[in-house]
Amino acid sequence: MAIETIKWVNGCARIIDQRKLPTEFKYIFCRDEKMMWHAIKTLAVRGAPAIGVAAAFGVLLGLKKFKGSDKYKFYKFFYKLCDYIGSSRPTAVNLFNMLDRMKEVAEKNRDRSIADIKELLHKEAIAIYNEDRKVCRRMGDFGAQLIQQNKSYMTVCNAGALATVDYGTALGVFYSAKKQGKKFKVFSCETRPLLQGARLTTWELLKEKINTTLICDNMAATVMRQGKVKAIFTGADRIASNGDTANKIGTYSLAVLAKHHGIPLYIVAPRSTFDLKIKSGRQIPIEERSADEVTHFRNVQTAPQDVKVYNPAFDVTDHSLITAIVTEYGIIRPPFEKNIKKTFRRRISENQIIR
Ligand code: MRU
Repeated sequence: MAIETIKWVNGCARIIDQRKLPTEFKYIFCRDEKMMWHAIKTLAVRGAPAIGVAAAFGVLLGLKKFKGSDKYKFYKFFYKLCDYIGSSRPTAVNLFNMLDRMKEVAEKNRDRSIADIKELLHKEAIAIYNEDRKVCRRMGDFGAQLIQQNKSYMTVCNAGALATVDYGTALGVFYSAKKQGKKFKVFSCETRPLLQGARLTTWELLKEKINTTLICDNMAATVMRQGKVKAIFTGADRIASNGDTANKIGTYSLAVLAKHHGIPLYIVAPRSTFDLKIKSGRQIPIEERSADEVTHFRNVQTAPQDVKVYNPAFDVTDHSLITAIVTEYGIIRPPFEKNIKKTFRRRISENQIIR
């Protein structure tokens, strides 16, 4: 894949500015933690796995400012920095899971010098970056088994290279299937209000020469009823222990429609998107974003200025509506609560590289 969404380059985090796509391709170089916080908040970098990597890089950027040799002050600075990065967006658990990994490294090495701890944190952030690349390709290969020759599939938002380091979760399934020589079509829902489907998914699928058709969100039911959708593949921002899944707003509507039309819904997400501390989707914090994302698009007003707006950025799909969850450990099927636990317990001890 030629798309490098986020990369550590010469002491900076280089990201593709996704707010500008598809009309402009531009990199931003985040030089400090404030730039990174802002990039995450404003969706210059977005998608759960990508913001997990961005959070780890954000910590490295912030730590550059700490110059003293007082350990107590260092840890105080470090934890404040992690809290600050964690305040950028609430729903995607990858962000918090990756901050936890950074904290674990800092905690385990309390007796080392500050220079050593900084070095170990640097290594951990790079490991997080490299693991995302590997894990996405594994998920893609598992998920590709579900793609049939000459059938059409549907996706929502962007769960592609742009939502990860460089390959994608749901779209990674399509990339792996294409590599295996399969021919198929993809319907991309435009994904109001910020149009990640229209702007980002179609951009990267076309770049990869995958047969892609853009539809408005409210056309999904019609396309399903016409028998044009073999299965739906989406990413996730947080998956609870029972399989309930938070993803981009509109995923739940697709899930209900899919059930009605007898179409399977597959969630594609790495272990780092699971929140096994929570029992169900009811405990997932849902980000609410500003009204102007609904009343305007790129400064063009599309609704009366003073209309009341409700803008939840994510919804939760009940596990009963999900056919299976594709992970880097394999495909998890219902009963989810039991099988999620079993899959991660078994595989973690078998393969320590993937966390
Ligand atoms: O608000 P966004 O664009 O960050 O929302 C992204 C999504 O909902 C994705 O589907 C999800 O993060 C999975 S990305 C592999």
